[in-house]
Amino acid sequence: MKIQAAVVGATGIAGQQVLAALDKHPDFEIAALAASERSAGKSYAAAITDEQSGIRRWYVPGSEPPEAALKLPVQEAKSMRLDGIGVVFAAVESEAARELEPIYAARVPTISTARPYRMEADVPLLIPGVNLDHVAIVNEQRRRRGWKGFIATLPNCTATGLAITLKALDLRFGVDCAIVTTMQGISGAGRDLAALDIVENIIPFIPREEERLTIETRKILGRVGDGQIDELPVRVSATCTRAGVLNGHTEAATVGLKRAASIEQVIEAFESFGREFSAIGLPNAPRRMITVHRDPMRPQPRLDRDAENGMTTSVGRIRLDEVVPNGVKYLLVTHNAAMGAGRGAVLVAEYLRHAGYLG
Ligand SMILES: NC(=O)c1ccc[n+]([C@@H]2O[C@H](COP(=O)([O-])OP(=O)(O)OC[C@H]3O[C@@H](n4cnc5c(N)ncnc54)[C@H](OP(=O)(O)O)[C@@H]3O)[C@@H](O)[C@H]2O)c1
Repeated sequence: MKIQAAVVGATGIAGQQVLAALDKHPDFEIAALAASERSAGKSYAAAITDEQSGIRRWYVPGSEPPEAALKLPVQEAKSMRLDGIGVVFAAVESEAARELEPIYAARVPTISTARPYRMEADVPLLIPGVNLDHVAIVNEQRRRRGWKGFIATLPNCTATGLAITLKALDLRFGVDCAIVTTMQGISGAGRDLAALDIVENIIPFIPREEERLTIETRKILGRVGDGQIDELPVRVSATCTRAGVLNGHTEAATVGLKRAASIEQVIEAFESFGREFSAIGLPNAPRRMITVHRDPMRPQPRLDRDAENGMTTSVGRIRLDEVVPNGVKYLLVTHNAAMGAGRGAVLVAEYLRHAGYLG
């Protein structure tokens, strides 16, 4: 029997990626939708359509809203009915997430794209193919908090592509430090960024992004300890900027390895990374966790963000670096709203079902 899924924040950018990934899914059924009181009480079709102009706000290029969602009512998130629901996907802004997620998690496994619980000791911060073994700490979370469900979180979308590549390098050579500069897509900021600010521009500051990238990367790359994650003491120096690109984060990384590696060895480490995870055959898993480009004009967000439905991390311009000890440098493109948020959350759920944590 399919697991009944609720999507909270279903009208937003990350929530719509969840819906697109759940469309005609073999294991999950879209059973309930929720958003703020602005949308509550309307059908989903009405909630995403401007009453006056008829303009539909659907943010997943190349797809239409799932038929299964259009007729469902949008509920008010705080009072959403949970009877029969087997998993909640929560994709709401931070303050709302802080209040809502424990209400759901007390009864139902809840997979969150939001920030408030990411760094709590008993909450896993998951990237498919990288650290899904961290989910083991939800047993401690349930015990401590007396919950039937649990909260499992996804990282800040800027951390996702970086952590995937660092994990591939750490497994082979050990990672000592990383210096990264990001050029982040507009949709990573949700629906509210003003066009006048971003067109023909680079915005040099994204509040709290650099700190999050640093601390989250250490937790993601850590190991399961005694009821918590023991962080990897990797030093990360980040400069985060917003670029006039709709979807997709581009990141220039220079990484100090513990053991020297040749370019060929780095390419091999990237291309072979995550084969075992992909071999499980989960519906939203990419065939390759990392796609390496030899063409020096790649990766580009416009050309590469949608590769494998936005679930692969595209890497190119791999070079050795002489400034950092055992240095290697490269550019990556990652889809912030797909692997970095909604579709990544569905892939986490697919793995949790496979591993016996759902249903
Ligand atoms: N966008 C990305 O690429 C991305 C990547 C990683 C993580 N995230 C995280 O995912 C979460 C959602 O981001 P987003 O980009 O999808 O934002 P968004 O496009 O602005 O959508 C926000 C969603 O939250 C709902 N919402 C807002 N206030 C609420 C409240 N008080 N109670 C219940 N629902 C409420 C909105 O409903 P209404 O339509 O009714 O207002 C909407 O469905 C954020 O925590 C963000 O940090 C986003």
